[in-house]
Amino acid sequence: MPETISIIPRPKYLRMGNGRFTLNQVSTIACSGEGALAVGHLLAYYLRPATGFAFPVTEGHASGTIRLEATGTATPDEAGFVDERYTLTVNDAGVSVKAQNATGLTRGIQSLRQLLPTAIMADAVQEAEWVLPAVEIEDAPRFRWRGQHLDVSRHFFTVDEVCQFIDFLALHRLNICHLHLTDDQGWRIEIKKYPRLTEIGSRRESTLIGHESDRPRRYDQTPYGGFYTQEEIKQIVDFAARRHITLVPEIDMPGHMVAAIIAYPELGNFKTETRVRCHWGISQSVLNVEESTIAFMKDVLAEVMALFPGRFIHVGGDEAPKFEWSESERAQARMAELGLHNEEELQSWFIRQMDSYIAASGRRLIGWDEILEGGLAAGAAVMSWRGEEGGIEAASHGHDVVMAPNQRVYFDHYQSEPTANEPLAIGGLTTLASVYAYDPMPEALSEKHRHHVLGGQGQIWTEYIPTMEHVEYMGFPRICALAEVLWLEKERKDYADFRQRLYRHRERLDYLGVNAHPE
Ligand code: ACM
Repeated sequence: MPETISIIPRPKYLRMGNGRFTLNQVSTIACSGEGALAVGHLLAYYLRPATGFAFPVTEGHASGTIRLEATGTATPDEAGFVDERYTLTVNDAGVSVKAQNATGLTRGIQSLRQLLPTAIMADAVQEAEWVLPAVEIEDAPRFRWRGQHLDVSRHFFTVDEVCQFIDFLALHRLNICHLHLTDDQGWRIEIKKYPRLTEIGSRRESTLIGHESDRPRRYDQTPYGGFYTQEEIKQIVDFAARRHITLVPEIDMPGHMVAAIIAYPELGNFKTETRVRCHWGISQSVLNVEESTIAFMKDVLAEVMALFPGRFIHVGGDEAPKFEWSESERAQARMAELGLHNEEELQSWFIRQMDSYIAASGRRLIGWDEILEGGLAAGAAVMSWRGEEGGIEAASHGHDVVMAPNQRVYFDHYQSEPTANEPLAIGGLTTLASVYAYDPMPEALSEKHRHHVLGGQGQIWTEYIPTMEHVEYMGFPRICALAEVLWLEKERKDYADFRQRLYRHRERLDYLGVNAHPE
C-alpha cells in the first residue's frame, strides 16, 4: 500500500489517483438508499469533533461533498450475514461511498476515517488540513464472522466502556461482539422473571489477589459487583446496531453457573459452593438436569432473545465437570429415564433442549467446542477454542464454526517476553506476529467443508483484567492484527506492510485514547 495510506485492515483493492480533496466548513454529507441516512449521521458524528465543521446530513440524490449511496436492500444469507462490500472513491470532485446496503456503507466510512489525517480521531478541534488523497477502493471481507469477545462477568465494565470498546471494533471493520454475560463470579444481565440472578448473583464478597495458582489464596476483602439492566442492554444493542455490529450474548451453561446456583439453589445438585465464586478456575458445581431447571434456562433465554436481535445465541457449554452428575442419584435417574449412556450424553441432551428452544424462536445456537461431546444438535454452530480440532470436526459434519483457538487468539495471554515485565496475566504467550500469522481456515479441512468456517474471533477473558484500560492494553494492537487476518485474503497479508501501517494507526489509537500495548 502507498506509504501515505495506512488503512487497517488493509482493503482488498486500492488504487491511488491524481489529486486530492479537502473537507472544509461547507462540506456536506448526502445520503441515498435504504439505511444510508443513519450511516450519514454516524459519519458526521465521527467527523465533527476534530474538524469543528457542521457536516449537515441530507437525504436524497442531492449533491454533497461526501455521497453515501446504498444501491439495494440487505438480504441476509442462511447464516444471517449480509453483503459488506463497498467502494470508496476520492477525486477532485468529492468523496463517494457506494455499497449494496447500509452495512457495506458503514464499513466504507470506517476506511474513509482512516484516509484522513490521524488527528481526525481526536475528540476536540485540531489544527489540520483535512485532506483526502485521490483513491479508488473496492473492498469486501474474506470472512463473514469477524468477532471479538469480552468477558464482563469476571470483571464488569460500564455501558459507556462497553460502547466505546465496540466503537473501536467498528473502526477495524469487525462485525461481531460476543459478550460473556454470566459466569461463576458474577451474573451481569437483568432477567425480570428471576430477579435474584442479579440481586444475589451479580455480587461477590471478595476477589482473589494474584494468580489462581498462588498459594495460600489471598482475597481483597472488597465486595465486587455490577450488572446491566435491560434498559442498559438495549443501549448497548442500539449503539452496536448503529455501527452494524451484531452482539452475541452468552449465557454459559450447564457449568460456569455458580452465581445462578447461589441465587437459586434449586438449580444445583449439591451445595458444592457456598458463595458467588471469589477466585478463578473451574468449579465442580453445575446445573442439575431437572425439567424445572431446563424451563428456568429457557425463560432466561427468552428474555435474552427479546433483547438481542442477532441470529446467534451462545450457550457456552465449556468446562462443565461431570463429577456432580455422576454422584447425584437424581441425575443418574434422569440419565436412565432419558435412555442416555453417560454424562457426556447428558450434557449433549441438555444443550439440545436449549437448541430446540432457540431454533423454535428462529435463532441459532452456538457453543464452545465441548458441545460436540455426546453428539451435537443439528443446526448448532461451534466455537472452536481448544485448538482447531473441534472446528474441523464440526465443519466436517456440516456444522458452521467460528475459529477461536486459545493458542492463537486469546488476548488474555501475555503478548511479550519477558512476561515478568508485563502485568499479571493468565499465562500463555500470543504475540502480535503470531496473531497476524494465524489463518482461521484450517489446512486440514477439506475443500467441500470450508464454507462452514464462518470466520474467527479474539477472546478477552477478564480474570486478570480489572479495568477497561487494561482490556485495551491486552486487546490492542492484537485486535488490529486479528481484524486484518479476518478481512484480507491470506495471500495478500504482509506483516512488514502491516507494521508500517500500524505505526500510523497507533496515532489514531492515541487520539482515541486507546491504551494500546507499546509492543
Ligand atoms: C473457554 O475459554 N473456557 C471457552
